[in-house]
Amino acid sequence: MRVTIIGTGYVGLVTGACLAATGNVVMCVDKDLNKIGLLKSGKLPFHEPGLAPLVEQNLRDGRLIFTDDLSLGVRHAPVIFLAVGTPSRPNGEADLSAVEEAARAIGASMDGPKVIVTKSTVPVGTAGRVKALIGDRTSHRFAVIANPEFLKEGAAVHDFMSPDRVILGGDDAEAIALLRVLYGPFMRREDRILVMDAASAELTKYASAAMLATRISFMNEIAALCERVGANAEHVRHGLGADSRIGSSFLFPGTGFGGSCFPKDLTALLHLGESCEVDLRTIRAVFEVNRTQKRVLVRRVQSEFGEYLDGRVFAVWGLAFKPGTDDMRESPALDVVEGLLARGAEVRATDPVALERARELFGTRVVLDRDSYRILEGADGLLLVTEWNEYRFPDFERIRDLLRKPTLFDGRNIWNRRLVEGLGFTYYGIGV
Ligand SMILES: NC(=O)c1ccc[n+]([C@@H]2O[C@H](COP(=O)([O-])OP(=O)(O)OC[C@H]3O[C@@H](n4cnc5c(N)ncnc54)[C@H](O)[C@@H]3O)[C@@H](O)[C@H]2O)c1
Repeated sequence: MRVTIIGTGYVGLVTGACLAATGNVVMCVDKDLNKIGLLKSGKLPFHEPGLAPLVEQNLRDGRLIFTDDLSLGVRHAPVIFLAVGTPSRPNGEADLSAVEEAARAIGASMDGPKVIVTKSTVPVGTAGRVKALIGDRTSHRFAVIANPEFLKEGAAVHDFMSPDRVILGGDDAEAIALLRVLYGPFMRREDRILVMDAASAELTKYASAAMLATRISFMNEIAALCERVGANAEHVRHGLGADSRIGSSFLFPGTGFGGSCFPKDLTALLHLGESCEVDLRTIRAVFEVNRTQKRVLVRRVQSEFGEYLDGRVFAVWGLAFKPGTDDMRESPALDVVEGLLARGAEVRATDPVALERARELFGTRVVLDRDSYRILEGADGLLLVTEWNEYRFPDFERIRDLLRKPTLFDGRNIWNRRLVEGLGFTYYGIGV
């Protein structure tokens, strides 16, 4: 089948590469010329495990085509996925200008019947809005299907190839049948396609994000309680997660959630609630808890070193919002680094893949180095923010000898308190 993807970011590129890998001829459109230039030469504009070989091979085989020409993209295929960004506006609502701009351009370039699939995370009613914008500009037959994406950065290729579910929202039976065929190769073991109305599909995406974020904030509150009452949040987490009604995922206490989805999707959900006078108190609390949680590591540093940190030097391990990605959007590391800088400290930081992004964000305000040990020399303490595997079993003796004061602030509870205290460290974890 011929397929077009508009928006070649994390979601669009993964979708395009995975659909090309199952034999489709996929044209990926983006208005960012740098991105398209990189992709045409087989280079990825971001880090995503397993994506590079898929892009390289399908580009070589002619099943993946990159262009900045949207009308060429529209004419290329009967199925067009919209995967453009939907960031937050200052008032919290989702900014649909990229979706609307693309919908208008699709309408203007239609050359035959099409199925338009909204993969971007969009508020309830957007499928209808897209339909109206296209319909105003064409007399060709078309359907709009809401198809929210649930992939996780860092495991996006796997999640696209083996989804827990694929949600199709809309009432055009022919369009749904066509998408069933397109998703067929990923449903071989079991059909996990759920068909519903567009509004429910659109809301399911926000509800999923909110549920997962709720678990994280819930666990962070329990961790705070653990610290006060002398319980261990890791034991509590295991005890909780062992209950099959609860399950163990998204229950890790830490420095709060970030990324391009949870904060933005929760804000958009709150805005949606306000606009229809439904007070989403749980979601508001989840957000509030997270805001506090993102400051927890800096507060720990202050409790050890005092309120003002002038003349102090701190090393930060991990800048991406989670392991497996170089995405730093809303990363808790931003709060940690900015919090330390604002209190007068010097910050040196490292990350296995996010240093380029960090350079764009911090400029020369932070010393950035790929060598995790070099940044420790003479530093007052080490803060662990992103739990990359390579940080799990570091050379603690070397760390201790390099630090001026051997102090560890473990924002993800990956180190063993007894072990590191035995080596002479002062250790702070989250609820442990
Ligand atoms: N990143 C994730 O993990 C994830 C997961 C699920 C859903 N989503 C949702 O998917 C959507 C895309 O997210 P992303 O992280 O891939 O965003 P992104 O910012 O990485 O990519 C969006 C791309 O769209 C391009 N674009 C914007 N307007 C355009 C236009 N008019 N024509 C052509 N290209 C245009 C941008 O240049 C950019 O490359 C968002 O709505 C997001 O909420 C993201």
